[in-house]
Amino acid sequence: MNTRISIIEVGPRDGLQNEKQTVSVETKIELIERLAAAGLKTVEAGAFVSPKWVPQMAASDEVLARIKRKGGVSYPVLAPNMKGYEGARAAKVDTIAIFGAASESFSKNNINATIDESLERFAPVIAAAKADGIRVRGYVSCVLGCPYEGKISASNVVRVAKALYAMGCYEISLGDTIGVGTAGETRKMIRAVACEVPMTALAGHFHDTYGQALANIYGALEEGVRTFDSSVSGLGGCPYAPGASGNVATEDVVYMLHGSGFDTGVDLDALIKTSIWISGQLGRAPASKVTLARAGQ
Ligand code: HMG
Ligand code: MG
Repeated sequence: MNTRISIIEVGPRDGLQNEKQTVSVETKIELIERLAAAGLKTVEAGAFVSPKWVPQMAASDEVLARIKRKGGVSYPVLAPNMKGYEGARAAKVDTIAIFGAASESFSKNNINATIDESLERFAPVIAAAKADGIRVRGYVSCVLGCPYEGKISASNVVRVAKALYAMGCYEISLGDTIGVGTAGETRKMIRAVACEVPMTALAGHFHDTYGQALANIYGALEEGVRTFDSSVSGLGGCPYAPGASGNVATEDVVYMLHGSGFDTGVDLDALIKTSIWISGQLGRAPASKVTLARAGQ
């Protein structure tokens, strides 16, 4: 059995994008550098999106310009269109992420485009990235439920995941944006997508609104998924997904995986320290059960 798991740390982007208080560039830089020092090989570092839509990500260019990049670590950013792509390229990233959705209403609310329009918009971004030697990751949001439409059928997820993969995304991250899915639903959805996209190209992205994220990750693991997105301290929420709570906490994922015989390359103690530190910066308690348990010992 392949016991190596890739963790994609999304705290500095998905985790912070919904914060009401402005988080300083210095704090973002320190967070990213601490996460890389804790052994995370991919740290999503920002988003080149409209500052009117997501003000918290406005200084992503400055963050990317000032972080000390560690060898062997990738610092992807979101880039929804050519304008975002130009910003990402200028920031000298090796990977960008485009983000679509399995729900029409969410797509309209999140990126002001229907699903078909979004795919048209992504095509030149992917072509430009390919020409520049930049890898493109694809997100599909609302794979198990939508804040506007409720349940989402697996066939909608398959359609978008298949299209993004065919367009050249090396990996498709399947997002339970509002954290409503269960392990059984997760497994069914993954099985359906894996008929069209290789399992090795799938990632799971779970939010913990209903407390199901770890169970969903375990379900996805049992189906063969080996890449998961998570956010230090369980930071997060989506500005266009009312009710969405944080992403699953990286510490909790790492603890579960290490205890189950998987290897992540992440130093759990360093991660817990980072979780306590960023929670202090934001003036709140960590949302990670593991961090709370360790802090109380
Ligand atoms: P739009 O308003 O349709 O875009 O937004 P537009 O092309 O009509 O341009 C309107 C204005 O935005 C113009 O400025 C553009 O220059 C500017 P103005 O002339 O009015 O001053 N603009 C930009 N500025 C900076 N960067 C850009 C950019 N593009 C246009 N890239 C757009 C379309 C996609 C830009 C907008 O809807 C947007 O930025 N949406 C981002 C939403 C977002 O970031 N959501 C959170 C991330 S997704 C997520 O969290 C889910 C995920 O975690 C997975 C999961 O959990 O499921 C990934
Ligand atoms: Mg998310």
